[in-house]
Amino acid sequence: MSVARLGKAARLQGKTLVFRDAAVADAEFILGLRTDEAKSRHLSRTSGALADQQAWLAAYAQRDGEAYFVIESLAGDRLGTVRLYDARMVDGHASFCWGSWILSDAAPSSAAIESALMVYAYALDTLGFTNAHFQVNLANERVCAFHERFGAQRVSQDDVEIEYTLANAAIREAMKRYARFLPDPLKVSI
Ligand SMILES: CC(C)(COP(=O)(O)OP(=O)(O)OC[C@H]1O[C@@H](n2cnc3c(N)ncnc32)[C@H](O)[C@@H]1OP(=O)(O)O)[C@@H](O)C(=O)NCCC(=O)NCCS
Repeated sequence: MSVARLGKAARLQGKTLVFRDAAVADAEFILGLRTDEAKSRHLSRTSGALADQQAWLAAYAQRDGEAYFVIESLAGDRLGTVRLYDARMVDGHASFCWGSWILSDAAPSSAAIESALMVYAYALDTLGFTNAHFQVNLANERVCAFHERFGAQRVSQDDVEIEYTLANAAIREAMKRYARFLPDPLKVSI
């Protein structure tokens, strides 16, 4: 089986959230989140320069194999970001990685579960992936606990981060368990 393609989408509509393809005009908003001291503690460092963020987003728009979304409310207020990238075969399964996941303090408390479910619904039901993999900083205990409640398994660990995988059955089980957070099917506009 060949690895599924990680395509961008213009817009995904969930129950209370929208994912919109990130654009150069989002640079200031994203920079604000990524340079927030509390939020960025466990993320890779971002340059504080607006021009660098604009250039990163312009290069992203030209790049295949990656989907970077701004998470919004249905009313269009920007609430955060999430990114899908690094499609590859893992033990014979088409697996995608996700991260750059940040929610602003304005996001409702259901936004974490809903946005994670939107990532999985898009990757599995639209793009055809079966499994997921990602890394979480060792000290980011709250996020580790979040993923472990979704069925993520630790596969390795070094001094800095934990490598997780989510098997297809675990993703499907989580999508069923938290089905009330998401419309079925997710509304996708390519
Ligand atoms: C990562 C991030 C988006 C997660 O969002 P979050 O709101 O912190 O997620 P939480 O784990 O607190 O979950 C939100 C709520 O859903 C609840 N919840 C989460 N998973 C749940 C589950 N499986 N079942 C029931 N409730 C659950 C939590 O208890 C919490 O409820 P509360 O608001 O009443 O306390 C956010 O912490 C963030 O922006 N962090 C900074 C950047 C970062 O570290 N990103 C991750 C990089 S890997």
